[in-house]
Order: sequence, then structure tokens, then C-alpha cells
Amino acid sequence: MASGVHEQWSSRMAFIFAAVGSAIGLGNIWRFPYLAGENGGGAFVLVYIACVLLIGIPILMAELTIGRRGKESPMRSLLNVAKESGASPKWRWIGTIAAFAGGLGLLSYYSVIAGWVLAYIFKAASGMFTEFWANVGVAGDVAPEIAIAAVREQSEAAKNAMMSDPLTMSFWLFVFIAGTVFIVGRGINAGLEKAVTYLMPALFLILLVLVGFAMATGEFGQAVNYLFAPDFSKVDGYTVLRAVGQAFFSLSLGLGTMLAYGAYLPKDISLHRSSFIIAGADTGVALMAGMAIFPLVFAYGLSPESGPSLIFDALPIAFGKMPGGTLFGVLFFILLAIAAVTSSISMLEPGVSYLEEKKGMNRWKAAILGGGAAFLVGLLSVLSYNNWDHVYPLAMLGLEGNTMTFYDITDYIVSNLVMPIASLALAVFAGWFVMRKHLRAEMGLPEGGIFEIWHVLIKFFCPVALVIILLSGLGLLDLALEYLKDLVDLFA
Ligand code: PHE
Repeated sequence: MASGVHEQWSSRMAFIFAAVGSAIGLGNIWRFPYLAGENGGGAFVLVYIACVLLIGIPILMAELTIGRRGKESPMRSLLNVAKESGASPKWRWIGTIAAFAGGLGLLSYYSVIAGWVLAYIFKAASGMFTEFWANVGVAGDVAPEIAIAAVREQSEAAKNAMMSDPLTMSFWLFVFIAGTVFIVGRGINAGLEKAVTYLMPALFLILLVLVGFAMATGEFGQAVNYLFAPDFSKVDGYTVLRAVGQAFFSLSLGLGTMLAYGAYLPKDISLHRSSFIIAGADTGVALMAGMAIFPLVFAYGLSPESGPSLIFDALPIAFGKMPGGTLFGVLFFILLAIAAVTSSISMLEPGVSYLEEKKGMNRWKAAILGGGAAFLVGLLSVLSYNNWDHVYPLAMLGLEGNTMTFYDITDYIVSNLVMPIASLALAVFAGWFVMRKHLRAEMGLPEGGIFEIWHVLIKFFCPVALVIILLSGLGLLDLALEYLKDLVDLFA
């Protein structure tokens, strides 16, 4: 096996923090709650957990295993592992596409949202949320629904004011990416590892405080009921689709992240145990975020179905009303910023490790190059919210009636194409092309038991499930099913 030239995690703890830090991000605190809210609460949660167990964990284990076996950047690790099993060197392309189109693509617009989070730390600190309510109070005695409507209007106006200002948004985009580049530039031990060792415990602490706070002041029982009492009439193909997509996003799969992080893993660390810990912590935090957010949503008569703006315009209404809301509002957005940066570093790392290893580039230079590219693409996403909100690139290219903005297109390419396609390719590679004995040796598992279950899932279940998900994501499932039916009829 090629010997890796790079650093290693200094301890099992450091690795777990880094991988959990990558997994826990805007995906858990911003995306999961609004998706659960839009897709029926408990039913979505249950389907989500099934997706994590059956697809998420097996692919996570595959990424970590191949990463550590190959010991280098995602592309070179894939190449090394392919060579060892006599498979085509072309498999390394999974890594290239995942890291550059996927990792940098995600970094570009993830950082836009993370930029809003940074801006909101200062908005919260200025006492703005409390002012919403104070303004209504000045207007005299009003019925609660009318008061909430008036406050909501101000909250939305504040968010829109930020979004309609490309300069402010670009500024925060820049700040966030610069922070990411700074950490990645410093390297695995002095950068990534140091950052997560301080930030992850802070994140857990703040989250606990916020859940406690929601328990004390919000409609906790209603929230628990909402998140955990499944109404199966709400489960359909679309729910499953959204749940799997969320599982990939949340577990940081399909972008080379876990391949890269696996490569820095010392040999004596158990891959399957680590995978369970990462997935468990990630899911636990998503549920805790739900329990911090929904009690407030219910207590203040807000709608759980507000979509992506849930935390930006709904939560400030709640923070503005509650005792200590300014402090808890600030804490909440700091929590989110921490979660975001421990994820964004893991989007940049795969590409940087490649440039460093293959091209012999200096790490700082590679990080600045990757971050700079993400910043430039990110500007297009910034403009999608204001000056260019009616610019539909695909329509200009001839796709009539398509109303996707640059932001929508980047998001679509990353989460609907790169993540599932790269994961599908990886599952096929691991299940069918890498020799069992190498996989087993790397995982340190005996035949049968956990290894066998994993192997069956990665070889058969994941590829089939992913093909179905991809087809339906592309709106081609019905067409494919029709063909399949014709085919069956033909032979029947
Ligand atoms: N898992 C991160 C989140 O939930 C996002 C992410 C995806 C990070 C893919 C790295 C790679 O926010």
C-alpha cells in the first residue's frame, strides 16, 4: 500500500470530534427541523432514521474504510484501493468529482447561509428581536394573532433587508470562507483538530442549554408529540426521497469528506464503531435541535411548515418575546455558526489534500485557491437573492419555463446529483470491485456478523435504493417503471 505522507489524527477522540463536527452542521439545525416540519413531523423522523441505518451508515463505513485503506487524498485513496484489487484506475474519478464539483460546490452556497447566521449573531445581540415586540406594544393593545402577524411582518422585513443587499451578504460570505480557509490552511493537527476540540464541546453545551430553555418556557410536550408520534398517512415516496437526501447531507456523504477524514485515521481505531458513534451523534443532535426549536414554534403560535426560513424569520419572533431572548438568540446563532464551520472545513479538505499531494502545492496556497473558487461561485448564489433573483440560467440556455436561480442550480447539482451519484458509484465500487478480504482486513472484522450485513447492504441494497432515488430525483421514476413493466410483459 502506498504510504501516506500526511498527518494523522492525534487520537480517537480528535477524529470522532472532527467527523461528528463535519456531520453536525446547518443540516441538523437548519435543514432537518424545517424538513421534518414540512413533511409531517414524526413520520418523517421515523423514515429518516431508517434511511440512516440502512443506507447512511453502510456508505459512511465504506467511505471511512476506503479512505483509511488508501491513506491519501480521496482520489488517490480510491486509486490505491482499486489497484490493490485489480480494478480500473478510473474509479478515482469518483473522488475528483466529489471533491471539486461536490465539496467546493457545496461550500459555495453553504457559506452563503452560514453568512446569514453570522449576520444574525449581531442582529440578535443588537436587541432587534425584542424591538419587534416593543414596536407592536407601542401601537396599543392588540389581539395576540394580530400582534404576532405584525411582529412576523417586521421579522420578515429584517430578513429581506439582509437578503436584498448583495454587499452585506458578500461581506459575510467572505468572512465565513476566510475563517474556513484559515483553519484548513493550518493543517490537520494545528487547524482542523484544534478547532473541533474546542468547538464541539461548546456546541453540545449550548444545545443542552437551549433544549433546557425550550423545556422550561415552550410547549415541550407538544413538540415531543409532533416529532415522535408518527402519522403514517403522511408517508409517501416524496417523504422517503427527502429523508434519504437529508441522511446524505447530514452524514457528509458523497463529497469525499469521509474518505479524506478516514485517510488520517490510525490503524487501531474501529471503523464500524466510529460509524455508529458518528451517525448516532448526528441523529441525536438533529432531534435535539428539533426539541430546541419546535417548543418555541408552538408556544408562539408559529407554523412548523415555514420551510428554509424557519430559523431566520420564525425563531426571532419567539426569541423577541421570551425572557432572556436576546441572550438565547445570540447563543443560538453562535451555536449554528460553530456547527457550520466544523462542517465547511470538511468540504474544503478533500480538494486541498489532493492539490497538496498530487500537485505538491503548499497547503495554504491550496486552501486559498479552493476557498477563493468557492467564494466566486458563492457570489452567484448571493446575487440569486437580489439583483439576479429573476435570472434563470437554464431558461437562457434553452430550457424553457425553468425558474431555477444560480443558487437553486448549485444546490440541485450538489445534493440531487453529485451526492447520490458519487455514493452510488462508491457503493458499487466497494461492493463489487474491492476484494472482500481487503475490506475485511481494513475493518478488522471476522467473516459473518456485522461484516456480512454491511456487505449485503452495500452490494445490493444501497445500489438499488440509490438508483430508485436518483431516478425519482430526476423525475424519471415513472418513465423507468413503465419501461420495466413493458419489459416484464414482454417476458411474461
Ligand atoms: N453534514 C453537514 C451538515 O449537516 C454538511 C456536509 C455535507 C459537510 C457534506 C461535508 C460534506 O451541515
